[in-house]
Amino acid sequence: MEKGLKRSCVMVVVAFLAKVDISVSVPFIMLHGIASQCSDDTNANFTQLLTNLSGSPGFCLEIGNGVINSMFLPLTQQAEIACENVKEMKELSQGYNIVGRSQGNLVARGLIEFCDGGPPVFNYISLAGPHAGISSLPRGLCGLTSDPACKKFNELIKGALYSETIQDHLAPSGYYKIPNDMKQYLERSKYLPKLNNEIPNQRNQTYKDRFTSLHNLVLVKFQDDEVITPNDSTWFGFYPDGEFETLLSANQTKLYTEDWIGLKTLDDAGKVKFVSVPGGHVRMAEEDVVKYVVPYLQNQQPAAQSFNRKTKEPLHP
Ligand SMILES: *[C@@H]1O[C@H](CO)[C@@H](O)[C@H](O)[C@H]1NC(C)=O
Ligand SMILES: *[C@@H]1O[C@H](CO)[C@@H](O)[C@H](O)[C@H]1NC(C)=O
Ligand SMILES: *[C@@H]1O[C@H](CO)[C@@H](O)[C@H](O)[C@H]1NC(C)=O
Ligand SMILES: *[C@@H]1O[C@H](CO)[C@@H](O)[C@H](O)[C@H]1NC(C)=O
Ligand SMILES: *[C@@H]1O[C@H](CO)[C@@H](O)[C@H](O)[C@H]1NC(C)=O
Repeated sequence: MEKGLKRSCVMVVVAFLAKVDISVSVPFIMLHGIASQCSDDTNANFTQLLTNLSGSPGFCLEIGNGVINSMFLPLTQQAEIACENVKEMKELSQGYNIVGRSQGNLVARGLIEFCDGGPPVFNYISLAGPHAGISSLPRGLCGLTSDPACKKFNELIKGALYSETIQDHLAPSGYYKIPNDMKQYLERSKYLPKLNNEIPNQRNQTYKDRFTSLHNLVLVKFQDDEVITPNDSTWFGFYPDGEFETLLSANQTKLYTEDWIGLKTLDDAGKVKFVSVPGGHVRMAEEDVVKYVVPYLQNQQPAAQSFNRKTKEPLHP
């Protein structure tokens, strides 16, 4: 009797150790927004906060020199740099999760869709990501808009948005989308049309396959977002082609109904969480972080034992 009890205790301990041994927290990276960098208090604290709350190792991934590159380096290059960085980080080699802030989400999706040979991304949490584009420049880009010089600057940029010069030297021009100028947008914008598989005859199935392989996609919209116009873009909603009056919710857009990047497939599988929280642009209350971000950073990394013997594919909980 006593012997049996001892043995089962030993077995419990062994099982516990085995479980600890095979389940390793999936690491995450954090991608900051425009005009900021990893060493800023906000980004450093946020990454640390997520690590503290989730118990998973987290890294704020820097692109080049931070602030300046976030503003002036085209997103195509930002995503390429992020891809190289990720491939060099051995901590991420078994797969990872992503948390993106604002413009960082366009880098995040570039990583997911374009990064050849990169490790898999499991869960992706987007905070105020302008996924369907913006119809006016982020205000933060030029400080106070009441400044006449800044207003002038914005006007100049607006007039030349799809020019080669602006496309190659101003990051947000890559996701600026003027609904009544779709022809120029599709022909000359260098980033978002490709990322969203918007250009007829140039849709790349690989981008869709990669995006569709996400386990969870969490899209967080901030109800008082004063930076992303329209704020529904953070859920993939946007204006219909040719007008600024009405807004289409994500599931009314062609990107969704024709499933250009797999958003519909993911949604049909119950893998998309459309989350709306109070607050201004990326100002998220800690209780909302706990509710909507942290759970998606607590997935476990399957070890060798959990591979499917037939397909050699990892089994994901
Ligand atoms: C970051 O955290 C430190 C220490 O917890 C705190 O002193 C500081 O105010 C925080 N900064 C921001 C921007 O949240
Ligand atoms: C994270 O936890 C450490 C250790 O408990 C603490 O010193 C630090 O202030 C925490 N940081 C944040 C941003 O929560
Ligand atoms: C689609 O993208 C993949 C991955 O980058 C690339 O290898 C392939 O050549 C692209 N296909 C087309 C038709 O452009
Ligand atoms: C954000 O979008 C909602 C509709 O989803 C709208 O009612 C609200 O006014 C928008 N907020 C801002 C600041 O534009
Ligand atoms: C489409 O999206 C809207 C807004 O998010 C939602 O209320 C509605 O239920 C969705 N419709 C379908 C058919 O899923």
